[in-house]
Amino acid sequence: MTKYLVTGAAGFIGANFVKYILAKWGNDIEIVILDDLTYAGNLLTIKEEIELNNVTFVKGDIGDRDLVSDLIAKHDPHYIVNFAAESHVDRSITNPRLFLETNILGTQNLLDCARKAWYEGKDASGNNQYKEGRKFLQISTDEVYGSLEKDYDTAQPLSVCDDVKRVIEGRDNLKTFGKNFFTESTPLAPRSPYSAAKTGADLIVLAYHETYGMPINITRCSNNYGPYHFPEKLIPLIIKNILEGKALPVYGKGENVRDWLYVEDHAKAIDMVLRNGKLGEVYNVGGFNEEQNIDIVKTVIAIIARIMKEEPQYQSLLTCEVEKINNDLITFVADRPGHDMRYAIDPTKIAVELGWYPETPFSIGIEKTIRWYLDNQPWVESVTSGDYQQYYQQMYQNRK
Ligand SMILES: NC(=O)c1ccc[n+]([C@@H]2O[C@H](COP(=O)([O-])OP(=O)(O)OC[C@H]3O[C@@H](n4cnc5c(N)ncnc54)[C@H](O)[C@@H]3O)[C@@H](O)[C@H]2O)c1
Repeated sequence: MTKYLVTGAAGFIGANFVKYILAKWGNDIEIVILDDLTYAGNLLTIKEEIELNNVTFVKGDIGDRDLVSDLIAKHDPHYIVNFAAESHVDRSITNPRLFLETNILGTQNLLDCARKAWYEGKDASGNNQYKEGRKFLQISTDEVYGSLEKDYDTAQPLSVCDDVKRVIEGRDNLKTFGKNFFTESTPLAPRSPYSAAKTGADLIVLAYHETYGMPINITRCSNNYGPYHFPEKLIPLIIKNILEGKALPVYGKGENVRDWLYVEDHAKAIDMVLRNGKLGEVYNVGGFNEEQNIDIVKTVIAIIARIMKEEPQYQSLLTCEVEKINNDLITFVADRPGHDMRYAIDPTKIAVELGWYPETPFSIGIEKTIRWYLDNQPWVESVTSGDYQQYYQQMYQNRK
């Protein structure tokens, strides 16, 4: 029985990860979820999972020393996977301190509680020994590397080395907007309070490995997209606004480039790193899907317009006429301060060492994502109305 302590699993990626590992490993695993249910945590997202006998939900702060120590002592997890974070760059610009508290100090608290619980003395050479099969995995971001140049105005063909070619079955027509990519040895150069806090967390995780020999990995992923994404982020916000016939805000000229990773592919990468990643290593996880923000918005408009025409049953979700779903909805707004121009991940290491690759091309992933939102409007409504924040109270009152 493999046991996981997953923090932040009422959020977007953590929830998708829990769903993925339950589908993959079923009753062979036990999961304890620790989440403080901030505005970004939605228990409704994992409603079915927390009803299962092998899943336990605990509301609490990763920075709470007593709580985290008790959870580790009681459940003795093999893997601690830390998704919990303040994750929205715009919010970090208005309230940086919270980002340092959660992302850095919270992570350090988890690490320290794990170190105490897993420590088993020294080996003959004087090195720290930890319980067999334990690992702390920090979920980080490509934003720790700063920003890359955008060298091309239009996407150019991307070629990958032969080792990667052998792994990436079925992914062709790869493209890029630049000559350089983030590798695991790219110097860390964060530019926003969010990414600076995530960098601080990465450094403390690496320091615990170097100083105490803690069994750790770090994964640094690109922009995720897919089901259950909070509608303040680009893709779900655009979908929501299109359905409501509202303007689609795009920063600057929409030329910033991000590398989009389908969240289920990311979940698979995380589980592979947990089980097979070499201790102490960092793994970049990217989507091979570089897109300009403006093209993302136009793609979403085109797909929703097509679905509405071809499958008119979905028109009941619209509060505007189908004809209004076009590029005229796009509204350029003042750019975010210090807006990074381009992120592009080189996932060669995880592809070659662990055999992982991002299976989902953007054209497939974005259609799946849009259809999920169209088919799950009650979830979107619960999030936007704030009803989801009541769910925890209701659930616990009902259980008393
Ligand atoms: N979303 C992306 O595209 C992306 C890209 C790169 C890296 N990441 C990283 O992946 C992780 C998950 O991202 P996400 O998009 O799912 O985030 P999210 O904002 O959707 O979810 C974060 C979760 O953490 C919980 N949380 C916040 N503070 C907490 C605390 N002090 N104690 C316990 N729980 C707390 C929230 O309630 C929420 O459930 C984050 O660490 C983020 O930095 C995300």
